[in-house]
Amino acid sequence: MISLKNPDQIAKMRTAGALLYEVLQQVRAAVKPGVTTAYLNNCAEQLIRKNHAIPSFLNYEGYPASICASVDDAVVHGIPSEKQVLKEGQIISIDCGLVLDGWQADSAFTVGVGEISAEAQRLIDITEECFWRSARQAVAGNRLGDVGYACQSFAEANGCGVIRDLTGHGIGREMHEDPPVYNFGTPGRGLRLRKGMTIAIEPMISAGDWRVTCDPDKWCYRTRDRSLCSHYEHTIAINEGGLPEILTYPDFVWKEEA
Ligand code: MF3
Ligand code: CO
Repeated sequence: MISLKNPDQIAKMRTAGALLYEVLQQVRAAVKPGVTTAYLNNCAEQLIRKNHAIPSFLNYEGYPASICASVDDAVVHGIPSEKQVLKEGQIISIDCGLVLDGWQADSAFTVGVGEISAEAQRLIDITEECFWRSARQAVAGNRLGDVGYACQSFAEANGCGVIRDLTGHGIGREMHEDPPVYNFGTPGRGLRLRKGMTIAIEPMISAGDWRVTCDPDKWCYRTRDRSLCSHYEHTIAINEGGLPEILTYPDFVWKEEA
């Protein structure tokens, strides 16, 4: 079931999103060679709690941490660990969610650890561009197939793979609501978007094969061919007659089309 949000409810999601943005900015600044993924997790959790919010990932279906930290070939759901020390040249996706006043925010980014290769940076840039192309299609009257196609066509034109086993999602009072938001699709097909829908769009893009395996911990997904993977996510609100609001990116303004 898809729940539409009224302006007061979207205002609460905006507040939650703004806090998550601050948390992720701080965690991003803490990423450097020598830090552990457990340390990044603690940074996020403390900031969330200090601001009277609740880490939404912690204990979600038994998940044991407040962020997902997915390094190199890890796609998503990497469990932070004291044993995982970041090394120069790696890339890491940090995914985090919180609940503030009963409303959810969910966002992720991928960043290099110190200096990274040009190929790795290119993958990160392509993934972010996939998100923005999808988000531009997320307008009332368009369909989810338009959103997915925008991501897939750009990724594949650049020789990258779109992970298919994991998707974006509706979000609101729950972290995962209907509908699933695929990162691939056919223009003009799928659910029609309406004002008041709030969704998380989260492309996961690999430098090689799009197929994934899951680690023995039952959480961490990796590319099957162990190629690098990047992930980028924001929670957005669909508007009537205009581009969506990026709830987890306060003060973001869309640039006019050239
Ligand atoms: N942030 C993930 C998503 O975008 C969910 C994380 S699953 C959890 O849907 F178990 F880690 F919480
Ligand atoms: Co999500």
